[in-house]
Amino acid sequence: MVDILTDKKNWKEISTEAVILGAFEPKPDGILDELSKLLGPAVEQIIKKKEFTGEFGQMKLINTLRKLPAENVLLVGLGKRDEFTLEHLRRVSGSAARALRDNGIKSFATTLHTMTTKKATLREQAQAVAEGSILGSYQFTKYKTQNRDKLKELKSVTLLESEKSTDEGAHAGKIIANAQNFVRDLVNEPAMTLTPTVLADYALDLKKLGVKVTVYDKKAIEKLGLRALLAVNNGSVQEPRFVTLEYKKGSGQPIAIVGKGITFDSGGLDLKPASNMLDMKSDMAGAAAVIGTIRAIAELGLNVNVVGVFASTENMPGCNAYKPGDVVTGYNGKTMEIGNTDAEGRVILSDAIAYTEKNFKPKYMVDLATLTGACVVALGYAASGVFSRDEALVNRLKIAGDAAGERLWELPMWDDYKDNVKSDIADVYNIPGNKGYEAGAIAGAWFLQHFVEKTPWAHIDMAGPAWSIDRKYYWDKGGTGWGVRLLVEFIKNVR
Ligand code: BES
Ligand code: ZN
Ligand code: ZN
Repeated sequence: MVDILTDKKNWKEISTEAVILGAFEPKPDGILDELSKLLGPAVEQIIKKKEFTGEFGQMKLINTLRKLPAENVLLVGLGKRDEFTLEHLRRVSGSAARALRDNGIKSFATTLHTMTTKKATLREQAQAVAEGSILGSYQFTKYKTQNRDKLKELKSVTLLESEKSTDEGAHAGKIIANAQNFVRDLVNEPAMTLTPTVLADYALDLKKLGVKVTVYDKKAIEKLGLRALLAVNNGSVQEPRFVTLEYKKGSGQPIAIVGKGITFDSGGLDLKPASNMLDMKSDMAGAAAVIGTIRAIAELGLNVNVVGVFASTENMPGCNAYKPGDVVTGYNGKTMEIGNTDAEGRVILSDAIAYTEKNFKPKYMVDLATLTGACVVALGYAASGVFSRDEALVNRLKIAGDAAGERLWELPMWDDYKDNVKSDIADVYNIPGNKGYEAGAIAGAWFLQHFVEKTPWAHIDMAGPAWSIDRKYYWDKGGTGWGVRLLVEFIKNVR
C-alpha cells in the first residue's frame, strides 16, 4: 500500500528519488528558467527544442545529475490555468505517479497540490493529489506468477509544504483512494473465486472497523422472503447472499446505499453472446462500491448514520433457472413477469430496495447498479445515469459527483415512461413491454420505482463507468472502483 507523507521542506531541499513540478500552458517559462539555472544543459535543450509546453498531461523526466538533492525532476503539464479543476489535478497526479512507478521509482515528492485551482482549498487539492497518486499506481498483479521480483511498486508519496490542511487532505485522500482500489480488486477478481459467499465475507471483514454486518445465507434469505433474489439464484450452483452493513455515528434516520451484486451475469437462459458476457464478472460493481464506501466512511470516522445493503447471486442458466414468462412474487408482494432473464439486476434489486425501505426506514435511499447496456449507449464511460422523482436528491448527488470527479447525468423519470414496464398478467414486466429495448435505462429505473413506497430514492446506473477499457490518467484496464468517491462526498455533506 502506498504511504502518503507530508514534509515542510521545499522542492529544492528535499532528498528523494524524484520531485514533481507542474506548469501551465502556454508559458511554462518561469519554472523552465529556474530549472535551467539549477540544472543547465538538459533543461536548455528542452527550452530550445520547445519539448515542454505545459500541455495537459505532458511529462518530462529530467535527471538532476546530483545538482539537486532530488535525483530526478518530473515536469508535468497542467494545461490552461483557467480550465484547471480538482479532477484535472487528480488525473495528472495519477499519470505522474504511474509514470514514475513504471520508471522503477519507489518514492517521490510532489508539489502539485500547490498549483492552485479555481475555488479549491489546499485541503481539497492535497486530497486530490493523494487520491490520484494512489489510484494511478494501482495494478492487479495477483495472478502474475512469473518474475514477481521484477514487479515495480510505489511505496510512498510526500506532499511538500505541509500544514494542517495538507495533512488532513492527504489523510482523507489516502483512505478514500485505498477503499476505491479495494473495490477495484473485488471487481477484477474472477467470478470463479469471487462468489456471492466470498463477496459477503469481504463485507464481514468490516466488523473490525466497528461496522455491524449481517450476512443472510440461502436459508435465511428464504425465511426473509426475498423471493426475487432466490428466483435469479435458481440457475446457479452457488448460494446467494444478502448483506446489510450498519455504521452508526450520527443521529436520525440512516442514509441507505443499495448495490447490485451479480458476481457473474451470463444472461441466464436468455444467454448473452460471448462478447457481451466477457466482462460480466464486473456485474457486482455496485455491491463492491457499497462495501468500499462503508469502509471509507468507517475509517474516516464520519459522524453519520449509513446502512449499506447488497443482494448477491450469479445469473446462470442451470436446469433450475428462472425462465422467460415466469412470474415472481417479490419481498413486498408485488409480482413481476420475466420478459428476459438477462434483466436480472432489477429483479434482485427490487427485493433489496423494498427490504431496505421497510426495515431501515432511511432518510434517503440510493441504489448503484451496472444495470443496462442502454445506459452505456446513452452516456458512454464518462458519466453514470441518475434517475429519481426527487429533484432535491438528484441535485445533491450531482453536486457530490462533480466535486468528487465521478459524474452523474440525469435521465428523465416522467410519467410518460411508466407504462414501459407494464405487464399483461403481473404488476410489472422486467423489460420494456413494446419492442423490448426502448428507453432501456429509464425502463430499468421505472421498474425499480415500483418497489419504493415513499422514501426519497435515486437510482444510479453505473454500467459505463464501472469498467475501463483504457489505461489513462488514474484508470487502468478493468474495474474502476467507481462510486466510492461520489458516495463518500454525498454522505459527508448530507444533513
Ligand atoms: N449486467 C447487464 C448490464 C450491463 C451491460 C452492464 C453492459 C455492464 C455492461 C444487465 O444485467 C443486462 O444484461 N441488461 C440487459 C437488459 C435487457 C435484457 C432489457 C441489457 O442491458 O441488455
Ligand atoms: Zn443481465
Ligand atoms: Zn446484470
